Amino acid sequence: MTIVSCTGLSKVYYEKTLFVDVSFGLQAGERVGIIGRNGAGKSSLLRILAGIDEPDEGVVAINRDIKAIYLEQQPLLEEQGTALEAVKSGRPDVVALFERFERERAAEADITETLTLLDAADAWNLEAKAHRYLGALGITDHQQRVSTMSGGQRKRTALARALFAEPDLIILDEPTNHLDADAVQWLQDTLMTWTGAVVFVTHDRYVLDAVSTRIVELDDHKLYSYDGGYEKYLERKEERMKVADATAEHQRNKLRRELAWLAKGAKARRTKQKSRIDWIAEMTAAPERTKAREIEITVGGRYLGGRIIDAVDVAFQRDGRTLFHNHTWRAKPLDRIGIIGPNGAGKTTLINVLSGKIQPTTGYVSIGETVTIGTLEQEPRDLREDATVLQNVRDVAEYIDTGVGREKYLSARELCERFLFTARQQHAYVHTLSGGERRRLSLLRSLMADPNVIVLDEPTNDFDIA
Ligand SMILES: Nc1ncnc2c1ncn2[C@@H]1O[C@H](COP(=O)(O)OP(=O)(O)OP(=O)(O)O)[C@@H](O)[C@H]1O
Ligand SMILES: [Mg+2]
Repeated sequence: MTIVSCTGLSKVYYEKTLFVDVSFGLQAGERVGIIGRNGAGKSSLLRILAGIDEPDEGVVAINRDIKAIYLEQQPLLEEQGTALEAVKSGRPDVVALFERFERERAAEADITETLTLLDAADAWNLEAKAHRYLGALGITDHQQRVSTMSGGQRKRTALARALFAEPDLIILDEPTNHLDADAVQWLQDTLMTWTGAVVFVTHDRYVLDAVSTRIVELDDHKLYSYDGGYEKYLERKEERMKVADATAEHQRNKLRRELAWLAKGAKARRTKQKSRIDWIAEMTAAPERTKAREIEITVGGRYLGGRIIDAVDVAFQRDGRTLFHNHTWRAKPLDRIGIIGPNGAGKTTLINVLSGKIQPTTGYVSIGETVTIGTLEQEPRDLREDATVLQNVRDVAEYIDTGVGREKYLSARELCERFLFTARQQHAYVHTLSGGERRRLSLLRSLMADPNVIVLDEPTNDFDIA
């Protein structure tokens, strides 16, 4: 059964051409992973598939009998109610039945018919299922109001709702952002046994490889389809490049490294949970991975003394809950410290305490006088949405002094270019940026202050695989 069929799609913004005359079809049971560079147009494509955006040209035909649900990269989820209510709203039919049930009971009316309907919809188990999904995705307080949730928690709640609704087609944009190792594994298992069709974008190669039955790459304004998972895709792509000219040598090497990396992981992957921890360790241990993003980062090398961050016996409590305690720790120059822990454990809070942004409940943090901290927040909040990329950079400084070489001074424009924002894109409004572009802009801004200590909260979220 064909679920979606798109033909001759084009989408062009003034700042950027996304795709031209592409076609895409989806059959029932297919699980398609969409890949492409940051800003290539993946989210835009998903929005068009979901019927939220219109293409400039072309036709999108969605099978009318199916239920489709779309999870945005940054869901707003403007809900009045609790997390549990938000998830249950994924099944409005059942919610309505429960309301009817309550009404009838209050009026002491006959409830037999409603009870039969509730039974038929398996409604009593749905409540438990909603709890289970929230729990699996790391939401601990199911009665928490959505309005008090962080962006990450909202996204996880929205993901729980999307899965809970059991649509025939589920469209997920970066569902693994903000998930801890357990939750990612759970999501992977859930999607692998999913009976409906899936179209998703993720930068998590493991999930991509395990879940996808087909990979569709958005590159150079075109779509290329490869049957199989990410590993198959890499193999095919290598074949394709072999025949192409020899100048692609560099690119081929990159692919080979990637294949070797994946092959190495394949054995460990079977021991599920452990493998992901290993993988995280490997990611942090392998500095060359970040270089592959081809962004050149030069900071002037501001002097850093011996004393960096001293945390003495710090503890932090929130709402009567202790997030961490008895934590004594000293950062030394050249330290690279990774913080891992389950969702809600307080990693962001710990980072904020260590970087002096918030006070610990007890104990103290002292930060060396020579220290300038640059932060990349989990959700960039300090950007001016209705200003352009360039204006946001100029808000920090017109020039920076790199302290080295002949081209010692870099203008805001040059900096933007180094961070892969083209001349046109520098004039794009921030609210039109893709997820990865926003975070790239954020990183650029924090590096402009020439920090000698960098604090990164979930730095890999949204950044493309390349
Ligand atoms: N409403 C808009 N007006 C102008 N440009 C836009 C608009 N929406 C998106 N764009 C631009 O289109 C490009 C593609 O955006 P999109 O969000 O689809 O990328 P993406 O592939 O999902 O990237 P990422 O991996 O970073 O999430 C970006 O450069 C973005 O700035
Ligand atoms: Mg996107």
